[in-house]
Amino acid sequence: MTTTSPFPIVAIDGGAASGKSSSARSLAERFNLLHVDTGSFYRHLTSELLRQGVPSGDLPALRAALGRLEFSTRLEGRSARMLIGGRPAGEEIRSQNVNAHVSHYAAVPEVRTALLAYQRGQAEVARQHGFRGLVMEGRDIGSVIFPDASCRFFLHADPAERARRREQEGQTDSIAERDRLDSSRPTAPLTCPAGAIDIDSTCLNLGQVVDLMAGIIAEKLG
Ligand code: CDP
Repeated sequence: MTTTSPFPIVAIDGGAASGKSSSARSLAERFNLLHVDTGSFYRHLTSELLRQGVPSGDLPALRAALGRLEFSTRLEGRSARMLIGGRPAGEEIRSQNVNAHVSHYAAVPEVRTALLAYQRGQAEVARQHGFRGLVMEGRDIGSVIFPDASCRFFLHADPAERARRREQEGQTDSIAERDRLDSSRPTAPLTCPAGAIDIDSTCLNLGQVVDLMAGIIAEKLG
C-alpha cells in the first residue's frame, strides 16, 4: 500500500504523556477525522503476548505467536479500536505490568512489522466510514507509517511536567524509562523526523496546543 494519498492524514508523535492522545481526540472532533492511537495497539499486543507467556526476548516463540494473531478494527465513536482475535483491549493495557513491558516488545522489529500494514490500513477504514481523514498518534507515524502525511507534528514537554500529567491521570508509569528505550532502539526510534513541526507543550495548556495544530492543519487542508 502506498503512503502517498490525497486523503488527509495528520501524524502526531511524541514521548510518553506528551499530550498526543488529548490533542488527537480534539483534532478528530474538529476536522471529522478518525482517531487512531497506535500506542494502544502496542499495549494490547503486549498484554496478549504476556497472557500467552511469550517473552519479548524469545524470538522464535514471538514469531510463531505473531503469525497466529489476527487484527481487526472496531469503531467506537471517532476512535479505532484494535481487536486481537476478535477481542478488544481491556483496562489492563494501562497497568503497571504493561507499562513496564511494552517498550521491550515495541523494540523488536518483528513486532513492529506485524503492526505496520494494519496501521496503514486504518486510512482505508477511515475512508470507508466517511471520515474526512485520519489523525494517528504514536512514535513513528511521521517517520515510518505515514512519512507523506499532510501534517506531521512532534510533541514534547519537560519530563517533570509529563510525570505530573500522568500522576494526575492516577497512573504509575515509568515514562522516563520508556522514553529511553523508545529513543534508543535501532528500529523506528522515537525522534522528531526532518520536516515535522516540533511543539513544546510544557507551558501550553491543551486548548493552546490544539489551536496551534488546528491552525496549521486548516491552512494545509485549505
Ligand atoms: O500514552 P503514552 O504516551 O504513555 O504511550 P503510548 O502511546 O500508549 O505507547 C506505549 C508504548 O508503545 C510506547 O512507550 C512505545 O514503546 C510503544 N509505541 C511504539 O513503539 N510505536 C508507536 N507508534 C506507538 C507506541
